[in-house]
Amino acid sequence: MTERETWATRAGFILAAVGSAVGLGNIWQFPFKTAQFGGASFLIVYIVAALGIGLPAILAEFVIGRKANLNTISAFEKLGYKEWRVVGAIGLFTGFWILSYYSVVGGWVLRYIGGSLTGAYFAAPAEYFGQVSAGMEALALHAVFMALVVGIVAAGIEDGIEKATKLMVPSIVVILAALAVFAFTLPGASAGYAYFLSPDFNALSENFAEIVPFAVGQAFFSLSLGMGAMITYASYIDGDQSLFGDGITIVFLNSFVGILAGFVVLPLLFAQGIDPNTSGAGAVFISVAGAFGDIPGGQIIGFVFFAVVLIAALSSAISLLEVVVSWAIDNYDVSRPQMAIGLGGTIFLLGVPSAIDSAWLGWFDTLAYQLLLPLSVLGILVFAAWVYGAPAIDELMKGSGLGEGVGLTWLWLARTLVIVAVVATLALGLQTLFLGESPAIVPPL
Ligand code: PFF
Repeated sequence: MTERETWATRAGFILAAVGSAVGLGNIWQFPFKTAQFGGASFLIVYIVAALGIGLPAILAEFVIGRKANLNTISAFEKLGYKEWRVVGAIGLFTGFWILSYYSVVGGWVLRYIGGSLTGAYFAAPAEYFGQVSAGMEALALHAVFMALVVGIVAAGIEDGIEKATKLMVPSIVVILAALAVFAFTLPGASAGYAYFLSPDFNALSENFAEIVPFAVGQAFFSLSLGMGAMITYASYIDGDQSLFGDGITIVFLNSFVGILAGFVVLPLLFAQGIDPNTSGAGAVFISVAGAFGDIPGGQIIGFVFFAVVLIAALSSAISLLEVVVSWAIDNYDVSRPQMAIGLGGTIFLLGVPSAIDSAWLGWFDTLAYQLLLPLSVLGILVFAAWVYGAPAIDELMKGSGLGEGVGLTWLWLARTLVIVAVVATLALGLQTLFLGESPAIVPPL
């Protein structure tokens, strides 16, 4: 067997993890929900959730991955807990499942890149979305998106994922910043900032019971937790860098990109007098797309906007294909490109129903978001904090230069508050699943 790959640099690992984290969740969910749930006052809740709950959870995944230097299933066995492989298997399955429909959405984005240049969706954005979001064309573009993902993953950790994300993540930030400056120049944009960030403590207190689970769920999804991605990426770390420092950097950059996206989409919508009171696919593919039809240079701006959405979606999707590819090449004597093609092809097939009919996509998403993700995060936390325990603190503190108190704080946060939050999220998810409320990232189409 050939030697296991590693990241060439610490920055390479951080950028790859940020690439995984920054995805559709940051662009089509975060800004809209922030505005709806109380602006700046919601941001405070979100940041507390991201640091108090998301950070301990991402550190748990990093610890397992780096300590074991193996894929998300075998890692548990290597650490001496063979039975806990089932937790890794749930995470791997969750990633597999999510990528199947995320890739369909990636295909829509490809369609909109082309549609921007020709102005195809300008006149009737809602009808256009209805036409291209399901059917043969959506299926073909799902295949193209998946082929791009396979191409990057097949090239390897250092030559594929690290090189790609080193280019992609800075591009996302620079392009979004440029779009934010452009949006700022539009007449009427200022109402967008007011809508996005003005603190509304009433909205916060009235909807608190809905807001807290959303903030926690968003922190998990947005940080790509419970999908095996962060365990897998951390397994390629070669060295004793501070996992704590890396985790904080990733949480910060992920939130920053969400806020930056808000500075693009909300001023744009307000400048065109479009009601932003929706989130999810409709917000980006109908409302924001509709705005491009009315602004000068909308073809180019639309093209650039959807290009950045594509980059964000791709840099997330590769992390999920890597979860399964990593498992396969750690365990079987097959080449990375062969596995990337074989597993990418299988995930493509699983996504066929979602590409043909959006109702399937909504169902896949609901199951992932309400059940699979919280279940997987819960398993990882119980393992890292309660079962593995003391060695986990040692691994976390390695190279950090921080005192023992930080490790103990992490352990007890993870053992108590974080687990309670995940159990509550899971309970709510099950309730939603059985009472049949609307799905989480994709609204009723
Ligand atoms: N953190 C990602 C996002 O916010 O979009 C979550 C994710 C979804 C990662 C789907 C990877 C993926 F394929």
